[in-house]
Amino acid sequence: MASGLLAELAYALGGPFHFLLPDAFTANLTAMQDALTAAGVDGFIYYAKKANKAAVFAERAAAGAAGIDVASAAELREALGHGVRGEHLMVTGPAKDPVLLRLAIVHSATLAVDALDELDQVISLALTGRVRPARVLLRVLPDAQPHSRFGMSPSELATALERCIQGGDAIRMEGFSFHLSGYALQPRADLAARLVEQCLRARVMGLEASRISIGGGLPVSYTDAKSWDTFLETQRPAHYHANKTFHSGDFYPYHSPVAGTRALAALLATRPKPSASTVAELLADAGIELLLEPGRALLDQAGATVFRVQGVKDRDGYQILTVDGTSLSLSEQWFNSEYLPDPQLIPLDQDAPSGVFPASVGAATCLESDMLTWRKIAFPHPPRVGDLLFYPNTAGYQMDSNESPFHDLPLPPKVVIDRTDHVRPRWRLDRHFT
Ligand SMILES: Cc1ncc(COP(=O)(O)O)c(C=O)c1O
Repeated sequence: MASGLLAELAYALGGPFHFLLPDAFTANLTAMQDALTAAGVDGFIYYAKKANKAAVFAERAAAGAAGIDVASAAELREALGHGVRGEHLMVTGPAKDPVLLRLAIVHSATLAVDALDELDQVISLALTGRVRPARVLLRVLPDAQPHSRFGMSPSELATALERCIQGGDAIRMEGFSFHLSGYALQPRADLAARLVEQCLRARVMGLEASRISIGGGLPVSYTDAKSWDTFLETQRPAHYHANKTFHSGDFYPYHSPVAGTRALAALLATRPKPSASTVAELLADAGIELLLEPGRALLDQAGATVFRVQGVKDRDGYQILTVDGTSLSLSEQWFNSEYLPDPQLIPLDQDAPSGVFPASVGAATCLESDMLTWRKIAFPHPPRVGDLLFYPNTAGYQMDSNESPFHDLPLPPKVVIDRTDHVRPRWRLDRHFT
């Protein structure tokens, strides 16, 4: 993005802002769809909407023949309003609001049912509503993550299958689902294979069981292996403002050797233990559709966040910058962690001197802990009031999942940069139908 356009936007909007690159989202989506086709897998992608609230990504999902994974009535309404058909919605989350359950059934969305009492509620809503059968997947509690609060245990699943049979025409049991924390491929492949077997057993019981959802969790690689390894080996409190301690294990894995679409292709080619077949082959042999709910990976390179430097203060050997927003617009701090891709300085002064100018970045709030970047970043120019700070690749979870108008500060607006049909990039504000 041209720094001139960023400076214009900063002036026009008069505060921090996010910009969105929907073409990157579409390119990621198309690449994932192509990877499914190349592996001979009948698959369908649901964009996990929780990863970003912008309307434009819902519009791009609809235009790209994808569905949307929603976890609230408001997300469902947004997805429908921006063009996604009800039958292309996946409703996830624990103990869903009855309003959400009812809307999902009315709109023929797929419900990933998380508990037995939820299943009972779904069946009774479908029976009393007499609109159409409820489409459900049964969410499994993963063996590998037995302490997860999501999903049903094997004995609960057995009961759930019985209740689906008893539910008759009120319910269509379409298969099973899971979502695993972490980013390893083998546990996903292993659990996918187990779900394929469960579908085959459920079919013997007379249920449809033709789809499995493997949730999200395709990793995004923000940096190269060498930078990441060096960072993890060398990072220590002296590198941070106030000698702050961060534990390496608490950081998102900012480097992944295989990420995004390549991780999907690798997953499809993985042989679940102890099978001789790959995930793709198991799915094809059993005639099962693979459903995915990627959030972060669809948003890779699809947005960034810009703040303006509002103050510069000297400390011993480094500076503290104060920007015109808060770390709530860069959510990672709120997970005992730090957003590690370095912010880039865009100086006002084109002739700013070069050198190494370490600085940490704080928010415009009265909270001691409200720091956007505790690390002392080695900026190549001396930061000055009015300069811009550009945080890259923030569309996936960073920019808005924790946002709050604390201190009555306005939420940073989202600017959509359209690059497709125009000779020069054009911008507009993201528009919701509310
Ligand atoms: C059920 C479910 N599906 C999909 C996702 C999206 O995961 P990711 O953004 O890592 O792809 C999540 C994330 O929490 C989830 O809970």
